Order: sequence, then structure tokens, then C-alpha cells
Amino acid sequence: MITTKPWELGRRRFIQSTAVVAGSAAFATGNLLTSLPALAQDPPTCPAPPSGGTSFVAGSDKRPITLRKSIGALSDAELSKLHDAYTSLRALPSSDKRTWLMQADMHALFCASCTNSPTDIHGSWNFFPWHRAFLYYFERILGSLVGDLDGFRLPYWDWEHIRTLPLPYASPGSSSNSLWDGIRNSSLAGGGNLPATHGTTSRITTLYGLSDFATFGGDAGSAGSLESDPHGIIHTDVGQPLPPRHDMGSLGYAARDPLFFAHHCNIDKLWSGWNDLASGGTSTDYKNPTDSGFLDTRWSFWDENQQVVSISAADVLDHKNTLRYVYKVSLRIPRLALILECRLVCCRPGPDPGPFLEVSEQVREAVMRSFRQESPVVLILHGVEVPPMLSGAFDVVAVSGEQRIVVGSLGLLEHEEKAEHGKAHRTTLALDVTKAVEGLFAKEKPATLHVFSSAYGGREKTEPSVEGKRALRKDAFELRAERAEIRLEKR
Ligand code: C2O
Repeated sequence: MITTKPWELGRRRFIQSTAVVAGSAAFATGNLLTSLPALAQDPPTCPAPPSGGTSFVAGSDKRPITLRKSIGALSDAELSKLHDAYTSLRALPSSDKRTWLMQADMHALFCASCTNSPTDIHGSWNFFPWHRAFLYYFERILGSLVGDLDGFRLPYWDWEHIRTLPLPYASPGSSSNSLWDGIRNSSLAGGGNLPATHGTTSRITTLYGLSDFATFGGDAGSAGSLESDPHGIIHTDVGQPLPPRHDMGSLGYAARDPLFFAHHCNIDKLWSGWNDLASGGTSTDYKNPTDSGFLDTRWSFWDENQQVVSISAADVLDHKNTLRYVYKVSLRIPRLALILECRLVCCRPGPDPGPFLEVSEQVREAVMRSFRQESPVVLILHGVEVPPMLSGAFDVVAVSGEQRIVVGSLGLLEHEEKAEHGKAHRTTLALDVTKAVEGLFAKEKPATLHVFSSAYGGREKTEPSVEGKRALRKDAFELRAERAEIRLEKR
């Protein structure tokens, strides 16, 4: 009797007896601490990228405007439709342009995980619109597979409130469940919680305090602060903790996990909610970039009829009217309107050498005042270069003497195959440093800032080796910023 599900055929897994090749990336940075057997998977098939096609016309989608809901809010009927949609997707013959693997490989193609990747849509302002367009066509495919193009909408994984893997995606933990993926972090898969500081309401409040798109969502050459945290950090939490970090922790494989789409739906909702904070008028606060380099960028996808369609960033901005879905978002009050300059200076000598903040007396006073009033102090670092070949979860830590205060997280996805390995990427970091104000802004011997691997941060059962422990205290890279600023509430 054949019990193998059709989707398993294209996905042979085998155990390798030594750490896989990609592990060398981690050796270089000291975050692979043991040589564990790793799972390997078939590489992305890297199909020829779709190109050209009919252009999407805003206004042509006339389906009813429908709510995208939290997974936790789906009715039994909606859940079973979701299961059915993935079951049908996984059962499509490999000649079809809509297959489950094709969808995953589309993501691999667009994250430079293939030698024929047209572009990498991560690490810049393309991040939000490309993923929105990807989800739109994916949603249409699933909807049409269950005969409900009009009414089917993707659910989101509201990790702010659902702190474990969402149940329908985790249980039953077998291939009888079309939402399940066997290649995940075992502690989460076993019912564990996300690390307490990841994907929290407080993180989202910090991000919603940032009113300019570049800091929130990136610019032409740099990732916005949301991309590494919470986007990247939730990816790395769900994927296996060691390289190659399949599935979710690796760009080339992430979309093989159905959770990818629920995670990205939540990311899309955050973008939408951020836009909702805009008020009318000429202020650019909470508005998307108006540069043609942003608006006119187009990408091609396969739609539910296996036809190539092309869609631009401009086409996806008004998701309610053009893509026919909405979210119910609770508005948070924007808060960080006062922007003060500072510098991240390298490096203070002493027992914990490292970059520290240099501020004027005036700025120090403003920061301390804000701190005494118990309002948040957020440090923005623009143009931070992240070295190539670095992947996994990292903490940004303020160190003074024995005291270590984690002020932020950084989730970096593994790049494979073509992997623009030679290339560092640039990001903006938004760090809520309120808890570390006294150290960071001390007149004498201010605290220094470090990026440490957060592997074994209490969640993994394996004890690091002695070298491992030493590696954990070693900076993953030296934090430098082209520009630094403090953002405070305006009083
Ligand atoms: Cu295209 Cu969440 O990565």
C-alpha cells in the first residue's frame, strides 16, 4: 500500500552524518556550536522566473472586499476550507504552474537563492510590496482550488497574541495535516512558546512610533527595522536552529512551510496598520514612498489560471480597493516624534571594548527627562552593515561591567544556493533602549553595544561546548552605523 502523500515525492529528506556545507557559514561567525546531523532537502528547483505577462489593472478585481482574519478567529468551516485548499495545492501535478513547490520556489527565485534569480526583494523597500503581491496571487490560487475565489482570504498568524505555533499548523503533526511542516524548530513544534521578547506588542508599538517609511520599511538600498525584527526573528524562531535552518529560517525554503504565508499575512497587516496612522494633508508621516523607483517596480507571477501576470508596487498600495481584502486593526498612538542626533562611536577600550553612544549634554538631558517620565527611548541606527554569511537569531546587548541588557533582536535568514554571499546587506535597527538608558547615557564609561548570537538562549536543550560558550560572548559583528538618532515622545 502506498501511503506517501503526493507532495512528499518532491521532497526527499536524508540525514547527513556531518554538519552540512552551509554550516561553514556559522563556523565563521561562531554560532554553530556542535556538529549535529542536519536535515537536507531537495534544493529549490529554480524554475525559469515568470516574466512579462498581462499587466494587472487596478479596479479589475471586483470581488467583495473581505476580511483577512487571525487564525485564532477562523470558524470550523473556514479552517476546513483552508486545509482543503492546501491539500489541493499539494496534490497538483508537477506540470502545473501553481504547485506548492512552485510557490515556494517563486520565493526562492525572488530572494536570490537561485542562480537565475532576477532580483532579491529582501533588504529594501521592495520587501513589503513584493510579499503583498505574492500573497495576493497565492490567495487567489488557494481560493480557486476550493471554488471560492470571492470569499477565501488567507489567515494571519497573530504572534503578538498567539505565542505558540498556531494549532492548525502544528497538530496533527503529520502529513495528514496539509498545514503541517516537519522541518521546524523542535521545541516550538513540541508546543513551546516563542522567546518572550520576540514579536511582542511592545515591539510593534515601538515600530508604530516610527513615522517615516525608510526607518520602518526600508529604502532603495536598505532594509527597514521591521524586516529583521519581528519579520526575521520569527522566521528564525520557527526554522531549525542550526544552518541550513530549514524551512522557515532559510530564504530558499521558507515558503515550503504553510506558516510562511500566515506569518507574512501578519507582516502585511502591520504594514497596513502603519499606513492607517497617516493623517491627510501634505505630511509624509506614515505614507509610502512616492519615488518612481519604488512605485514602478514590477514583478511577474502565475495566477490561478496559470497565466503570467505582472503587478507593480503602486498597484498593491491600496489593498482594500484593488486587492479586495482588509484587516481589522486596532490603532496604536504614534509616539516618537522628537528626533535627536547622536553618534555611535567606535570603540571604548576596557574590559568590554565596543561601540558606544556619543551625545551632547542637551540630548543627554532630554533623554534623561524622558526616561524619568517613563516614556520610551528608542535608538535608531541607520546604514548598519550586516556581514555576509551570517544567519540566525542575534541579540543587541548593552554591556556595562557585569550588566547586560538586551535592547533588541536581529533575525537573519540563511541564504543558500546562489546566495549573494559576497555581499553585506544594509539595514536600519530600531532599538528600544529604555531599560539601558542609565548605562548607555552615562557620562563616565558609557555602556557599549554588542551583537551576540542568541543561540541557546534558554530554548535549545543542547548545552554549548566550551568554545561555544566563548563564541557566544564574542561579537557576531561590530556594530557600526552610518547615522544614529534618538527618538522620543514629544511632550
Ligand atoms: Cu521573503 Cu519572510 O521572507
